[in-house]
Amino acid sequence: MDPLLTYRKECAAFFDALATDGKAPLVFGEGPHPHPVLMLIGEAPGEQETLQQRPFVGKAGKNLSAFLETIGLERNALYVSNVVKVRPTKVSAAGRLVNRPPSREEKELFTPWLMREIAIVRPDALVTLGNVALQAFVKDTVGQLHGRWTRAVVAPPSGEAFTLPLFPLYHPASVIYNRSLSQVYQQDLEALRDSLTAR
Ligand code: URA
Repeated sequence: MDPLLTYRKECAAFFDALATDGKAPLVFGEGPHPHPVLMLIGEAPGEQETLQQRPFVGKAGKNLSAFLETIGLERNALYVSNVVKVRPTKVSAAGRLVNRPPSREEKELFTPWLMREIAIVRPDALVTLGNVALQAFVKDTVGQLHGRWTRAVVAPPSGEAFTLPLFPLYHPASVIYNRSLSQVYQQDLEALRDSLTAR
């Protein structure tokens, strides 16, 4: 059996057992495995991702398409996932269910599952989008590390730890309304593209 299917079953069973208010619909990663060129790691699924049961669709999917166009890769060359695999929500003042950032507890619960996922997928390199994904590996912020290669320790709960090249990027959603940050994001993408083509 595909080890990722076993992983998904075990992860779903773990979070079902924790859920007090019904089963949380988990959104798992997708893409070629093992050994994709890159594994892209976001924060958490949103509404569209939860409805379609796929990471980075809807508005985030548009960001992803722009990302892929700049670095010259097709979506199917990439494994795409999130740290937290359930949509974090809150009720807005207007009474609507809206996204919120993942809590510390959610990040702590899901990080060992992310590590296990990476150990199964075995990408050549990791790209994190934003601080939530970056800080699954290091304490530094994306403001400090964006746009250049660093190394991440991947420590699955069972099995040996190993390291992978990691290229931290800002989260595309966080740069939309900030012109200077969106220029930085674009430059970082170009640096990533150049380093991939130079390989
Ligand atoms: N959609 C995702 O799947 N992940 C994000 O980080 C944002 C939107």
